[in-house]
Amino acid sequence: MAEHDYDVLVIGAGPGGYVAAIRAAQLGLKTACAESRETLGGTCLNVGCIPSKALLHGSELFEEAHDGTLAKFGVQVGSVTLDLPAMMGEKSTAVTELTGGIEYLFKKNKVTWLKGRASFTGNNSVEVAGQTVTAKNIVIATGSSVTPLPGVEIDNAAGVVVDSTGAIALKQVPKRMVVIGGGVIGLELGSVWRRLGAEVVVVEFLDQLLPGMDGEIRKEAAKVFKRQGMELRLSTKVTGVAVNGASATLTLEPAAGGAAETLDADCVLVAIGRRPNTDGLALDRIGLQVNGKGQIETDHDFRTKADGVWAIGDVVPGPMLAHKAEDEGIAVAENIAGQVGIVNHAVIPSVVYTLPEFAGVGLSEEGAKEAGHEIKVGKFPMAANSRAKTNRDTTGWVKVIADATSDKVLGVWMVSSLAGTMIAQAAQAMEFGATSEDIAYTCHAHPTHSEAIKEAAMAVRGKPIHI
Ligand code: FAD
Ligand code: NAI
Repeated sequence: MAEHDYDVLVIGAGPGGYVAAIRAAQLGLKTACAESRETLGGTCLNVGCIPSKALLHGSELFEEAHDGTLAKFGVQVGSVTLDLPAMMGEKSTAVTELTGGIEYLFKKNKVTWLKGRASFTGNNSVEVAGQTVTAKNIVIATGSSVTPLPGVEIDNAAGVVVDSTGAIALKQVPKRMVVIGGGVIGLELGSVWRRLGAEVVVVEFLDQLLPGMDGEIRKEAAKVFKRQGMELRLSTKVTGVAVNGASATLTLEPAAGGAAETLDADCVLVAIGRRPNTDGLALDRIGLQVNGKGQIETDHDFRTKADGVWAIGDVVPGPMLAHKAEDEGIAVAENIAGQVGIVNHAVIPSVVYTLPEFAGVGLSEEGAKEAGHEIKVGKFPMAANSRAKTNRDTTGWVKVIADATSDKVLGVWMVSSLAGTMIAQAAQAMEFGATSEDIAYTCHAHPTHSEAIKEAAMAVRGKPIHI
């Protein structure tokens, strides 16, 4: 009889956990995955990436019809009205299809779904739904949840003070939505409701939006969102939210201190970051401690300090992104199987899926300088890109940052309607150690938005053609 019930037991079926489980099974390991939600796919598929992108798409279509963009191209649609339940219905269909798809993949790959919350009873054992299950290797992939704002109570069902989960399921378009936090969630979901008719105010503690992104991207984002009609209250903190029935009154203060003021809203979205999920895992039983940010630290191979226990995804350090979690899922399974699984954390793209999209990979200009590089920068505006011209979506630019001596590409940042798709090319080039010359001399199809990447690379070394 085998010493353990499973070779691998993964806790959590988000993009990190479900991918780790499938990969482990593909490599011939007997695998189970514990998940406490009713459906697989974690935050990303259930209440994160997928439903938010469905609403971004739906609201974009509505705005195109509503603001005359379609009419400009000769598509007359008459009077445009919003059917919010239908839009929410499409979102739910996408979620159901995708979460069901993971269930199908589990069956196909013979991954056992243990339904329930898992907590450690030893390095090689957990308790799930009253049962003790043992495994030679246990992977913690429990993800993250919303960081609460002290003194502010979230009530997604009431729909007045909500987090992202509440904001993707509002029953009506708020008249005024105040978003606390000018990060990715605030700007994506703030955009959804602004497009659908809400007046949106974003309150951000720092003096700029989108911390962590390149400085020029952050400046451009402020310009773009203001132009689209969002009110940005930068360098401002929320010190209190009082709910009165179907509305709320926020108290704001300058971040540096000063006179308080109040702001009324019928919906408040709290989006000030996410924190790792480790509560209830009983990490103390395996002698594991979390770091100051509540994360589980691992080595390069995703091993924790507890023998036989590994960790990946939002619960470990690094950007809280689905594709980072997925890649770590593949790598950890390959390491468990005795292969060499690696994730290059220096080349993880990040994308804000608004219109235009904001995307980047590698070092920002500030980061490259801080790291001691002498840099050369090439920039190309989308206004000079022929496909952007034909589509009348010329907002944005591409910026390629290269080392001045070696010409190696250190970072690529872009603002464009298709930046989220275009950034993959930059990530691949960087993964292959490309120079800006390599990109400049790669033939790009015409007319495509991607030609702007080639021209920005040409601009690093001299002159692009079209400007
Ligand atoms: P999660 O997806 O959080 O999954 C962890 C799972 O573990 C959960 O299902 C949870 O129920 C389960 N679990 C936790 N504890 C236990 C336990 N003890 N026992 C059993 N099960 C447990 N990222 C992107 O890259 N692109 C995007 O467009 C994007 N959009 C987002 C939009 C929103 C609104 C939000 C909130 C997030 C978004 N993200 C996006 C981030 C992305 O969702 C996360 O980075 C990703 O889901 C992390 O994957 P994970 O597997 O580490 O954890
Ligand atoms: P975030 O970290 O992106 O942004 C939070 C913002 O809130 C920051 O700008 C911060 O300065 C600000 N803030 C913090 N405390 C504040 C306060 N008291 N008052 C006002 N502002 C305050 O976090 P967010 O937007 O909640 O998203 C969480 C994570 O989810 C992201 O870090 C990202 O990893 C992931 N995500 C990714 C998406 C994507 O890839 N497109 C989409 C949505 C989420």
